[in-house]
Amino acid sequence: MASSASSARSAPWRRLFQDHLSKMATREAALATIARDPQGQWTPRVRYVGLRAFWGQPELHPEAEKQLKEEDGLNPTIFESDMPTFTTDIRMEKADQLAESGGVVEAAIWAKEANNQWRIKGKAFIIGASAEEEGELEARKQIQKGMWLRDAGGTAVGGEWSWEKEVTTYFANHTPVMRGSFKNPPPGHPVTETPTDPNIKLGQKVYDLHDPTARKNFRVVVIRPEEVERLDLNDYENPKRVQWKYIGDDIEKGQRWVETELWA
Ligand SMILES: Cc1cc2nc3c(=O)[nH]c(=O)nc-3n(C[C@H](O)[C@H](O)[C@H](O)COP(=O)(O)O)c2cc1C
Repeated sequence: MASSASSARSAPWRRLFQDHLSKMATREAALATIARDPQGQWTPRVRYVGLRAFWGQPELHPEAEKQLKEEDGLNPTIFESDMPTFTTDIRMEKADQLAESGGVVEAAIWAKEANNQWRIKGKAFIIGASAEEEGELEARKQIQKGMWLRDAGGTAVGGEWSWEKEVTTYFANHTPVMRGSFKNPPPGHPVTETPTDPNIKLGQKVYDLHDPTARKNFRVVVIRPEEVERLDLNDYENPKRVQWKYIGDDIEKGQRWVETELWA
């Protein structure tokens, strides 16, 4: 994520957030969702996820780039966004929670090296199913609202940009062992439940970018931020807290965010 550029249209928090991420040894976020408990009450759920590139600006591992160039080809890098991403397995509980709650999330990131906490509230959208599947086109439509063309003049190299190719790019950017994790037995189920499908087992390495079982479960989650907050703890005698709220797009000025300094 460190190298993906912010541009004139980027959100006012983007450059600094990216700078802090680039200093982190590994980029984990605690991701909160909400779920209904057995009594029907909304209740919080939280887990760590590994943040990946901002949507539209993949940061490819050299091995992934090589395989993509030889096989599917790369999407032209024509889009930008301020939407952080992570990948997941559709069989995990967070996927149902996002579907049930309308995608509400909050991600908390402790950028320890920069002594800053970042909190991102927004909506998360899951893509990676076939375009015929329920919800996929709506998720793409919602993600599109947070994307813009990098250069209206069009310096695109390569073929046409496609959603499928972009999701494959994320899959390719996982090691063969990580790709294999999408063929693990169902996450969260008791180990006494032995899978009947012989393709489902632990410890597999996947080289095929279109392995049917792994790709059936693999998803990209795109977070469209609505409110971002930075807590700067570099000076404990004078901590700084800044909040940015998204208030919509302006045709000429691009995205508009209202910045407010808060007491920490
Ligand atoms: C450092 C770290 C990184 C992780 N990265 C991811 C990730 O990127 N995506 C993911 O779905 N789960 C990731 N996990 C696993 C989740 O924390 C969690 O165990 C899993 O997603 C199931 O959560 P759920 O049942 O709430 O969906 C990670 C865990 C750790 C400790």
